[in-house]
Order: sequence, then C-alpha cells, then structure tokens
Amino acid sequence: MLVGRLASLTLAHIICREELADIGHSKRLILHGKDYYTRSDNPDQRTVNALQTKVLELKKQRQAIILGHNYQRKEVQEISDFLGDSYGLSVQASKTDAKVIVFCGVDFMAESAKILNPEKTVLHPNLKAKCPMAAMVDAKSLRELKAEHPGAPVVSYVNTSAEVKAETDICCTSANAVKIVQSLPDKKIIFVPDTNLGLYVQRFVKDKEFVLWPGYCPTHMNIVKEELVKLKQQHPEAEILVHPECSPDVIDYADHAFSTEGIIRHVVSSPKTEFIIGTEENMIHRLRKEAPGKTYYAVPGATCPNMREITLEDVRDALEKLQYKIELPSDIIRKAKVPLERMIAAGR
Ligand code: 13P
Ligand code: SF4
Repeated sequence: MLVGRLASLTLAHIICREELADIGHSKRLILHGKDYYTRSDNPDQRTVNALQTKVLELKKQRQAIILGHNYQRKEVQEISDFLGDSYGLSVQASKTDAKVIVFCGVDFMAESAKILNPEKTVLHPNLKAKCPMAAMVDAKSLRELKAEHPGAPVVSYVNTSAEVKAETDICCTSANAVKIVQSLPDKKIIFVPDTNLGLYVQRFVKDKEFVLWPGYCPTHMNIVKEELVKLKQQHPEAEILVHPECSPDVIDYADHAFSTEGIIRHVVSSPKTEFIIGTEENMIHRLRKEAPGKTYYAVPGATCPNMREITLEDVRDALEKLQYKIELPSDIIRKAKVPLERMIAAGR
C-alpha cells in the first residue's frame, strides 16, 4: 500500500516536515499529513495476551511498579499500574514503595522518576523513546540565558533533561504551569522550552514579562486549525479539546485546553457525548475506558512516534534483564530534585 502510494508520487508531492529525518530512528513517515509506520501498530491479540501475562508475572517477581503515560500504546496502557499525565506520574513516582519502577513514557519522565527516587532502580524500556522538545534546550544555553537576565527565576517545563532541571528554580507541567508562574513574586521569568505553553500561560498572567525559548512539540504542531474546522463541520455537536502545547490559533479555536489528565477529567464529568481530541491519539484508548459510550474523533497527524517506541516486548525485556537503568550524576540529582519537589508541592 505504502509502496504503491510512494510509486505514484513524485518527490515534489511528498510533504515531509522535520519528521523525515526521523524515519530511521522512529520509523515514521508523514505523507500528505498521514502517518505510516514501518512496524506493526496492530499486534495480534493472542501475542498481546501472552506478553501481558509474562509482563505481569515478571513484575511480581521483581516487586516492580509500571508507570505509563496517557500516550502509551493501548496494550502497554493495559499493563500499567498507574496511567496519567506528567504531573500525576511524578506524584506516583515520588510516593511508590516498589523496588523497581518501569517507566513507560519518554526519557525526561523516566529521569524525573529517578531524580525523585535516587535509591530505586528506574528502568526505561526503550532508549529511543526520547522527547524532541526536551532536547531543544541544554544546560549551557540556559546558563547563558540566565546570565542575560540576572535575577529572573527559571520555570522549566518538566519536558527537559535532568541537567536543565538542575539549572531551574521550579518545574511545571501543563497541568499547573499557570498556577506556578502566578505563585512567583518576580516580575520577569525565564520559561523554557515550550513557546506555545509559555504563550498559553501568558493569557492568564498579564503582569509579568516572559523570556521564552523557541522550543516546540512536533506532534502538537502537527495539529492544525484547518483539520479542526473540518472535523467540527462533520461533527457540529462535538466539543474540541486540545493540549496547551498546540499553537495559539488552535487553542483559540478549541473549546478548552487541558493537560492530558485534564482532558480525561473534563470528558468524564461533561454532559457532552462527542469530543474532538487535539492531542496524541492514543489518549482515546484511555478515554474509551474512563468514559465509555461517548464518541471521540482523533485529529489526523496527532501521533507521537517517540511515545510509541515502547512495546510490550520492551517492557518484558526491561523486567527480565533489568534494562535500561537510568543513571544520573549525584550532583545533578541533588540539584534537579529541588525544582521537581517544588512543582509537586504546588499541586495541580
Ligand atoms: P501531559 O503532562 O499533559 O501528560 O503532557 C506531556 C506531554 O508530553 C504532552 O505532549
Ligand atoms: Fe514530547 Fe510532544 Fe511527544 Fe509530548 S507529544 S512526548 S512533548 S514530542
């Protein structure tokens, strides 16, 4: 099918964004706004059942807990002890008494679990599951920015490396970014790395100057207003829910912007029955579970190939071989723990 499509296209027809460079890494190809994957996204149910049984057996033997982000593949969501957004997962990581934490999410999430639990074994089942936005700012560049704005506190989105957190005053997630920025007495703040989240916070915080960083999420930038307009025309009763990592015009057009867990909470308590989901489409598995009987429409192109790297086989291997252990220098852990714990203490 893909070969046929490719053959019928000239190079000029192929609309590729920076994701083209990712083909080898994440096996993702975007053609005309549609995603094609070279690995199976639909493993057969018998294989899934057998792998899930094995994972649950190993999890017991290892006295492990599996933490999974809301964007994980359906079959990985099903074996997770706790599913949630970045904030909820950090809270769970900070209070678990399991010996081993298997973190099914992207790199910065597993690192945060290690920072909060330096004495525990934290496993990241697939090292290719990296968040490109988190890689858009590094500690050296942040130090330079701090030198240009002396005295301005640094608010780092949790989608950052441990080294960047070590240079940070307080972390935030999309669930509490507004609250955290509002809680700071300072007039000027440095906000890294997501420009869109920074602009979203600015809507609610008018009395501060923001120094923003040009970072962005490729997945949420793939959600374009034109697609939402089309979906709304097809489903006029549907409410449009998007993530604050979306661009400002998408947020303006949507009915609400929430963190992933915020979207779930809103849908569960809403009297509405149809929703256009403007974030990673794997969220819809969780929504179907938490609010069955409602109808969800995915936005074309809203896929995070990085989150999808982790498979059940990876989780089984992680538990069997105790791989891949997150190791961080102790001084980075010590410094990065401060802004993360401040973020957790601030609440949602
Ligand atoms: P949440 O904190 O809303 O789950 O978002 C994490 C993320 O990476 C969104 O792209
Ligand atoms: Fe990173 Fe975007 Fe994927 Fe979230 S959806 S993990 S911000 S690339």
